[in-house]
Amino acid sequence: MRYINNNYFIENVSLQRLAKKFSTPFYCYSYEKIKKNIQNFNSKFGKFSPLVCFAIKSNTNLNLIREIKNLGLGADVVSKGELMLAIKAGISPKKIVFSGVGKTESELLYAINKKILLINSESESEINIIEKIAKKKNSTVDIGIRLNPNTDAKTLKQISTGKKDNKFGVDEKTFIKLVSRLKKSKFLKVKCLSVHIGSQITNHKPYEKMLAAVDKIIDKLKFKFEYVDLGGGMGISYGKKQNKLNYNKYSNAIEKFKKKHASKIIFEPGRSIIGDTALLVSKIIYLKDNNSKVFVILDAAMNDMMRPALYGAEHQILPVKKNKLKSKKNYEFVGPICESTDKFLSSKNFQKLKEGDLVFLCDVGAYGSSLSSNYNLRPKSPEILINKSKIKVLKKRQRLENII
Ligand code: LLP
Repeated sequence: MRYINNNYFIENVSLQRLAKKFSTPFYCYSYEKIKKNIQNFNSKFGKFSPLVCFAIKSNTNLNLIREIKNLGLGADVVSKGELMLAIKAGISPKKIVFSGVGKTESELLYAINKKILLINSESESEINIIEKIAKKKNSTVDIGIRLNPNTDAKTLKQISTGKKDNKFGVDEKTFIKLVSRLKKSKFLKVKCLSVHIGSQITNHKPYEKMLAAVDKIIDKLKFKFEYVDLGGGMGISYGKKQNKLNYNKYSNAIEKFKKKHASKIIFEPGRSIIGDTALLVSKIIYLKDNNSKVFVILDAAMNDMMRPALYGAEHQILPVKKNKLKSKKNYEFVGPICESTDKFLSSKNFQKLKEGDLVFLCDVGAYGSSLSSNYNLRPKSPEILINKSKIKVLKKRQRLENII
């Protein structure tokens, strides 16, 4: 993804051409970038021969998941819908893990019938329901138990999941009690210890602490877990200012852990695989000058891309066509939705813009389209995949007739 003669290209296709073909707003992914991210992930962690389960919640586009499956990944799902999607995309149930604090009995039954690799359970009550289903079927179900390691992931508080006041997993004492009890169960087999301390983690130290907590509890239990599921959370850099996770340091910490414990490692990455592979292309509907700043009113809105409104997340905005004119005014990029939080970014040094110009938001591949909604009864935007010169429609724009 780069400018060629001041025009932005994804692989061999210009965004301008795509905008003419599909109209705006639309999501556009680079196949090459997805492939590279997976290769990069494998080059850092491949030595552990892990099972890499893509976190479907980060991107629920069926056609995209098919590509990700073809590149060798399994799936981490958190609902029956995501599980059905993963199976429909052709992912083998033996490469699927199911997390989440509130799986219903019918969701659990569905997962058990599909014989997925692991249900990572997050409470004693959930375990009791799984045991009841297994008993009724007179079969054995493989489960993981999610530990809440009380580790601060040092990320945004809204996406932090590993502290004791977060709803996720069970504390050390409960974990030990559950494993000890289930050793005698005829219907449940505890195969996995799972953890996931948060998302957009850019410092390796919380991961080191997490591994130390896991190591300590396994030592206490003297129990052999076939799998240790380390979750996802690897952060990416949104814009130039942000730190990057040191993969080598995280990998070294896992190596140290692996020397003591022979369990197979599972990862559940979402953002690190798909985050920086996509752009959201949008057209400027109006410019509105309120004297102190100019509102750049885009045709993309918080219903397309929720992260800025929900977490105050910043996504870089760039022009599709570069010019050399600097604007003297502050630009505030906003959407048309009737909420003051429908705002993407403020920028002081943007090039001069005019109504009808095209711009794009960067790094929207993860938690972009999957968090999109029909708020203000706006149809969801199409998703396009570029592979060299090939243009593939992953999802069409929703039709108003179908959502009214
Ligand atoms: N595994 C579990 C159990 C999770 O809860 C999550 C994310 C992942 C894996 C994948 O994490 P990742 O590698 O993508 O960081 N909507 C927020 C992020 C929420 C993450 C929820 N759980 C955002 O837009 O930043």
